[in-house]
Amino acid sequence: MDAQEAFWRELGPWPRWGPRAKPGPTPVSTDVPPILEQVAPTAQGSALSQDIEACTRCALHEKRQRPVPGLIQPGTPWMFIGEAPGAEEDQQGLPFVGSAGKLLDRMLLALGLQRGLDASIANVVKCRPPHNRTPSEEECQRCLPYLHQQIAVVNPRIIVLLGRVAAHNLLSTQGSMGTLRGRLHHIGNIPAIVTWHPAYLLRSPQEKAGAWADLCLARRQVTK
Ligand code: URA
Repeated sequence: MDAQEAFWRELGPWPRWGPRAKPGPTPVSTDVPPILEQVAPTAQGSALSQDIEACTRCALHEKRQRPVPGLIQPGTPWMFIGEAPGAEEDQQGLPFVGSAGKLLDRMLLALGLQRGLDASIANVVKCRPPHNRTPSEEECQRCLPYLHQQIAVVNPRIIVLLGRVAAHNLLSTQGSMGTLRGRLHHIGNIPAIVTWHPAYLLRSPQEKAGAWADLCLARRQVTK
């Protein structure tokens, strides 16, 4: 059993919600649909993406293969925000396409969501930090205006902050994950929750049940 399957096996039957919820109780490794190719970028999204493609606001642009603007669709009810692209994202120019991304897709699927259709996906920093180091405070600050514009374009009903870097930068706090998870925050007037980053969940599978509880809190907010 691989890590992605394990995420849901530990949690029992597929949660059922929404028209795209996976029917049936067996969380086998059903392939996530190749939805990325099917999502046409919008005018607003593409203008921002072009700015990001040309960005030289920090030194990260010097070593990147490709910037990773994100998957931004106005009006998706959900928006997931991670930290920074890794090696595979840097190669492909797409967010969350490596092993953490595969787990993120499992999380979306369990919620009945597909990336680009129900969920926009972005990162705090749009270019890969060398050796996957944590982006510096300055790199985050220089890149954050893009993310705030992306949030405005999407205007989601819920924002899911994946991990400490996203939580700290979007909520302007230094609080621990323990103090930030399990409750509702707001970014402007948009509700937000904090959960574990999927890369952390791959290393610490015992936290998956807690992550699922976080996602259920987010779902309650969307369906309210
Ligand atoms: N981790 C992130 O935070 N973002 C990605 O796009 C990939 C891995």
